[in-house]
Amino acid sequence: MIRDVERILLNEKDLEKIVEDLGARITNEYKDSDKPLVVIVILKGSLIFASDLIRRIELPLEIEFMKVSSYGAGTKNSGEIKIHLDLHREHLEDYNILIIEDIVDSGRTLSRLTQLLRNRNANNVKTCTLLDKPSRREVEFEADFCGYSIPDEFVIGYGLDFDEKYRNLPFVGVLKPEIYS
Ligand code: IMP
Ligand code: MG
Repeated sequence: MIRDVERILLNEKDLEKIVEDLGARITNEYKDSDKPLVVIVILKGSLIFASDLIRRIELPLEIEFMKVSSYGAGTKNSGEIKIHLDLHREHLEDYNILIIEDIVDSGRTLSRLTQLLRNRNANNVKTCTLLDKPSRREVEFEADFCGYSIPDEFVIGYGLDFDEKYRNLPFVGVLKPEIYS
């Protein structure tokens, strides 16, 4: 796997620092709230990030999983989100909801997902992403908590995949363009 990596962007120490900082910010955000915190882990990419992050949030919380994909622009389904695994929880208005995502690219997935949850009465939905590629945005969207902004390069590792591979690399690296082109 390592042969396919052009360079390491964030090593294990960098990731630890980013996650610790996000955990402190999130703890601070919710510490005085009387509503329970529910984190929604977006499968599969944010699995590893989320498992580290929740251990840095010093508050009681509950974990849920969702698996979604968004249709790109230009297809007949543009504007929709496909739900592969849904949340089984009612009365979303009773919770503070924090969506945990690996990376924001076009912005479609998280903008649609937050909208969907708000349509189901969730009135406090916030988002946390490990990585952000602001230059790739196609819809207006900004995560409430963002770990690290990166240029327009395809990255893998620490949960992020290319063709379902490389998720188990312990760092975030840039994939050699010849692998995907
Ligand atoms: P968005 O809806 O375009 O913001 O899509 C975000 C999703 O695209 C992420 O959850 C990832 O699954 C995927 N993605 C975008 N950029 C990368 C990347 O550089 N590496 C791996 N996955 C990526
Ligand atoms: Mg993803």
